[in-house]
Amino acid sequence: MVATTIAHLNKLKANGEKIASITAYDATFAKLFAACGMDFMLVGDSLGNVIQGASSTVPVTTDDIAYHTRCVRNGAPHAFVIADMPFMSYATPEQAYANAAQLMQAGANMVKLEGGDWLVETIQGLFQRGIPVCAHLGLLPQSVNVLGGYKVQGREQSAAQRTLEHALTLQQAGAQLLVLECVPVELAAQITAQLDIPVIGIGAGKETDGQILVMHDMLGLNTDYLPKFVKNFMHDADSIEAAVTAYIKAVKQQTFPAAEHIFK
Ligand code: KIV
Ligand code: NA
Repeated sequence: MVATTIAHLNKLKANGEKIASITAYDATFAKLFAACGMDFMLVGDSLGNVIQGASSTVPVTTDDIAYHTRCVRNGAPHAFVIADMPFMSYATPEQAYANAAQLMQAGANMVKLEGGDWLVETIQGLFQRGIPVCAHLGLLPQSVNVLGGYKVQGREQSAAQRTLEHALTLQQAGAQLLVLECVPVELAAQITAQLDIPVIGIGAGKETDGQILVMHDMLGLNTDYLPKFVKNFMHDADSIEAAVTAYIKAVKQQTFPAAEHIFK
């Protein structure tokens, strides 16, 4: 497989080719995802839910993410791997530097942080120290106890405007990628059009530069509540490899997400 870097993702955006990505937590799946041609992988703190069985991402630690990042890196030596910074691991810029360093040394190419313009100094500092940052706006699962549940974000005009402003501010601060989670398709389209960096959506419609899904959701392994934006690609596949290949193809050909997966 061709080595994948942030430059590769920028080129895909420039060429108008959609970016296909997925969460990964272990070497075996990471190797399979890389072989199928996945553009990047995220060691998500969703591992709190799907690996550890917790009811939110709040209990996840930097050591947990570092362990799974090493597993993914071992399985996919050349893949572009993003590691989530977990709850409270970037509460101050200094904490962010130390914890992000641990994740980079575990094999990540980039770290992801949830939040808006309060992260400007942290993102600038990480960038200056050689640590690329992916921002994450919209639904912020680490803030579930503040939000009072997992709900679509940015439906009101004022919240949508604020999200757009945060996105521009974080790009200005040095963020090189943005994940938008659970926002209306119109807002995701507006943010994608205004940003130079690639925007990856989950539950954010089909206008973003790419898509990401939690692997357990798209492989039909999650027997609990499934969010509206998820598609189980095992339905029409006779192997995991076929399902993953179908997902990548559906993202590239823009048949996923379809109307039934999109918040208006
Ligand atoms: O942790 C995770 O899996 C994520 C994705 C949902 C973007 O942050
Ligand atoms: Na996450």
